[in-house]
Amino acid sequence: QPAKAWSGRFSEPVSDLVKRYTASVSFDQRMAVQDIRGSLAHAKMLAKQGIIAAADLADIERGMAQIRDEIERGEFAWNLDDEDVHLNIEKRLTALVGDAGKRLHTGRSRNDQVATDIRLWLRDAIDQILALIGDFQKNLLDVAEANAATPMPGFTHLQIAQPVTFGHHLMAYFEMSRRDAERLKDCRKRVNRLPLGAAALAGTSYPIDREFVAAELGFDEVCYNSLDAVSDRDFAIEFCAAAALLMTHLSRLSEELILWMSPRVGFIDLADRFCTGSSIMPQKKNPDVPELVRGKTGRVNGSLIALLTLMKGQPLAYNKDNQEDKEPLFDTADTVIDTLRIYADMITGIRVKADAMRDALKQGYATATDLADYLVKKGLPFRDAHEAVALAVRAAEAKGCDLPDFSLDELRAFSPLVGDDVFAVLTVDGSLASRAHVGGTAPDQVRAAIARARSTLG
Ligand code: ARG
Repeated sequence: QPAKAWSGRFSEPVSDLVKRYTASVSFDQRMAVQDIRGSLAHAKMLAKQGIIAAADLADIERGMAQIRDEIERGEFAWNLDDEDVHLNIEKRLTALVGDAGKRLHTGRSRNDQVATDIRLWLRDAIDQILALIGDFQKNLLDVAEANAATPMPGFTHLQIAQPVTFGHHLMAYFEMSRRDAERLKDCRKRVNRLPLGAAALAGTSYPIDREFVAAELGFDEVCYNSLDAVSDRDFAIEFCAAAALLMTHLSRLSEELILWMSPRVGFIDLADRFCTGSSIMPQKKNPDVPELVRGKTGRVNGSLIALLTLMKGQPLAYNKDNQEDKEPLFDTADTVIDTLRIYADMITGIRVKADAMRDALKQGYATATDLADYLVKKGLPFRDAHEAVALAVRAAEAKGCDLPDFSLDELRAFSPLVGDDVFAVLTVDGSLASRAHVGGTAPDQVRAAIARARSTLG
């Protein structure tokens, strides 16, 4: 056998540097299970079609079983000389079973082989991520439910805007995570198509049965153009885009946890196990985990851009550029998986400081809109009501009090339409209860949203 699977037409060996530069085995060996699965399905099809003998298939199956054991036990000798996961396994197979090993690659190229391996790998990763999103969502719903009626200031421009409940605020993140899961499920459909059979780029002259291989490997259908099958990585880019959005959502939540935990805000405390101390300042408890989620989001965004850039200038069909797809893809999946695992636990470790949230509502005239709406219901056009309440807020600011602290007479100075029923709408709880439509922050609506969410989770 020649030193390399392809060295027959070469007159000099590659240098050690080029060998190292072109090899991918250090990182693509994590697709070994998928590579073996794909090879077994391919071999089974070759035997069924009479392209290899039944005895060859038996040898290949026996050899692959041993290789799988060796890999599982950590005894497989990965070799840089054999470039990638595909050639390493094929070489070992041939060493173990002889000619049958050399027949495995009939009607196949590493180009359709690697595209198949990545799709199998990514399909598993997506399924794992979907399950982890579910775990995160369940825990998020528990915390939201416990706080369905816990008032806190809702912000726009980071200025106190209107009262909401903490449960309602958390349910916003539930909605985001639901869309993240939808996107991943949708992406999975396009991941789950079989490239094998495309061979190097043009297909193959052997009488192959691609549908059979697709069914063996659980693919929904085959890739219908051989050039496209080996060359595009849009399915991986799409996954990274969905992952970047998922991380962006968790990054926003992280930013809020960090802000809420700041002593200047003091809305929550995070469990100690997600924080670290300072080596110099003995009093510190820093929210390191959410900060790292925020930081790692940058890394995931970077991988998305890396893959888009990798693809944009490539002519059809396969180019070695595509070997660079794996590390960003693996890293993205790893980062998302770890982040979701940590978040599911961290979210249950939030200690809510309900009194601080309620106190904060006293500082921002959070019920000013409710007063304007009250005047509208008494017959004032909304723009006039807005103006009247703005003057009331200015007066309250000058006096250093909140709107409900004014007497009835003081309030009537801003509009004669004010009656003594006004104080009911100026309270936080009145404001919350009045937002009683679907998607509103009234505690009953928040509970309904949580119940709806639970029924979709199953
Ligand atoms: N290691 C390669 C990759 O990851 C496998 C395909 C190599 N094909 C080739 N014609 N050199 O893309």
